[in-house]
Amino acid sequence: MCGIVGYIGKRQAYPVLVKGLHRLEYRGYDSAGVALISESGSLNVYKSQGKVSDLEDTAQNRDLTGCIGIAHTRWATHGEPGFLNAHPHLSQSGRLAIVHNGIIENYAALREMLLDHGYTFRSETDTEVVVQLIEYLQEKDGLPFVDSVQRALQMVEGSYAVAVLDIRRPDTIVAARKGSPLVVGAGDDEFFLGSDASPIVGYTDRVIYLDDEDMVVLRQGTDITLMSIRGERKTPQIRRVTMDVSQLEKGGYDHFMLKEICEQPQSLRSCLQSVRQTLTGPDAEHVFSLLEQADRVIITACGTSWHAGLVAKYAIERMARVPVEVDYASEFRYRQPVINPGDVVIAVSQSGETADTLAAIGMARKQGAKVLSVCNVIGSSIPRSSDVVVYTMAGPEIGVASTKAFTAQAATLTMLAIVWGHRRGTVSGQDYDSLMSEMDTLPELVGRVLDRKDDVRAMAQTLSFAPSCLYIGRGCNYPVALEGALKLKEISYIHAEGYPAAEMKHGPIALISQDMPVVTVATESAIYDKLVSNVQEIRARQGRVMAVVTEGDTEVARMADRCVAVPQVTECLSPILNIVPLQLLSYYVACLKGCDVDQPRNLAKSVTVE
Ligand code: G6P
Repeated sequence: MCGIVGYIGKRQAYPVLVKGLHRLEYRGYDSAGVALISESGSLNVYKSQGKVSDLEDTAQNRDLTGCIGIAHTRWATHGEPGFLNAHPHLSQSGRLAIVHNGIIENYAALREMLLDHGYTFRSETDTEVVVQLIEYLQEKDGLPFVDSVQRALQMVEGSYAVAVLDIRRPDTIVAARKGSPLVVGAGDDEFFLGSDASPIVGYTDRVIYLDDEDMVVLRQGTDITLMSIRGERKTPQIRRVTMDVSQLEKGGYDHFMLKEICEQPQSLRSCLQSVRQTLTGPDAEHVFSLLEQADRVIITACGTSWHAGLVAKYAIERMARVPVEVDYASEFRYRQPVINPGDVVIAVSQSGETADTLAAIGMARKQGAKVLSVCNVIGSSIPRSSDVVVYTMAGPEIGVASTKAFTAQAATLTMLAIVWGHRRGTVSGQDYDSLMSEMDTLPELVGRVLDRKDDVRAMAQTLSFAPSCLYIGRGCNYPVALEGALKLKEISYIHAEGYPAAEMKHGPIALISQDMPVVTVATESAIYDKLVSNVQEIRARQGRVMAVVTEGDTEVARMADRCVAVPQVTECLSPILNIVPLQLLSYYVACLKGCDVDQPRNLAKSVTVE
């Protein structure tokens, strides 16, 4: 939700900022803006409704000089996504500019107070209140720039990552975070800011991940000053970030989503290697000393990660024989759950920044639970707030619709279930060996599924005309049905629901008609015969069936209107293969409908507000 970039140094800031905004556009694309202190000393702000490319058009032929600047790409929270609400926001006098990611909860009270003091507001945003407050504190108390930002941040409640410019201090950016992420890049005599490291890599690999309530003062030509918003000095911990810049580009594909679907053989290989090392190498004791205390596991996550958590429930209960609950983080954090000393919480998150998941684990830890996170982005907030982390190592995921992160999460959690089961004696040595070697074949098998693109395209033709669609599956493929339906609705705007196939008879079967295709995950399983009956019930009502089947299948294939076949694997590994045709299906449907695949309307990849 909103991306922030900042630069101060010897280069021209504008190209650095705009390139950074493009990399952060996955966080929101309602509007974009940039503030620069120009070579002549003026504070120039350019903004535009829409995407970063619209901002570039707006800024053309304007004064884009200056070696210091801040920029923003927005996902609207307070105020509609129009020009007036676009960041950066200016203070009353126009001397100060701010960009903000987060929500200021007490903005209404602060606004009232500032209105009483004669301040006027141009936007409907909570952000404008912060920049006006900083100016108010400068004027009322004569506070210098850094102190005024610090005092203002002590007064605001809520979450924020902010970066502030003051025209009177053209050598300084002040930035801070609480609840929303912020990373500083430390180059040679230059500093970068980003909501994640992607705007920074390519310039420097030295980064500082700010902690909650950290404030940083970046001054041209000097060292960085790090302190808490209460003013306590801190020593910056510089870390090396390794990110292959080519992963941030489309690399010849039309969309990031297609690229990320197609790179799953590689992302899974990297994930499986790393996770095997974590779960069976010298660090395994960290993970299992925590898990082995568990009487019960509570998995918490949002969106696609929640679906991966549901896959994990089937795997962990089946293999490690430990009870598992799976809860949406947004529900878990507010429903006063019963948390016992023997509970271990597993938080699943691609970005590591989802506000509800972060809050849910904070709450669980306060109540005495231990937290293991399964996360893709190294150094992000969720791993840093957990007792132990297992990284999925799928590489940066840019497309808003999550694809390779899901297969990596499902693979990670399934491997965790296998290794845990083996350690507990609920998976035999022989089964352990065979499952672990079968996992190693998954990257190649996913490659084989990707070769079936023509079959999926044919299905997409049918689906693209449907106003609504059902996805069904059973057992560990019920979460795959949910995830397939989510993919379709998020990028093609076709209404879709996922159901456990046997639940059809309890209501949804009433919807079956020629206009309501049913996408069925019907690969081999212990209850394949039951699923065949469910498909027959749909056919008997003239329903149209699109099926994912196991290679060599004849029964469902005979009944289905269209099929795509995937290689045979042990049932608990099948979600990792079966989701791939459903990812492709949603992609092709969205393309046929002319939708904006990588930037679907109203969505953002990283939901850092609740
Ligand atoms: C957003 C994204 C989804 C993602 C969910 C959870 O809704 O659009 O793709 O699954 O957030 O994000 P996380 O980063 O915690 O996995």
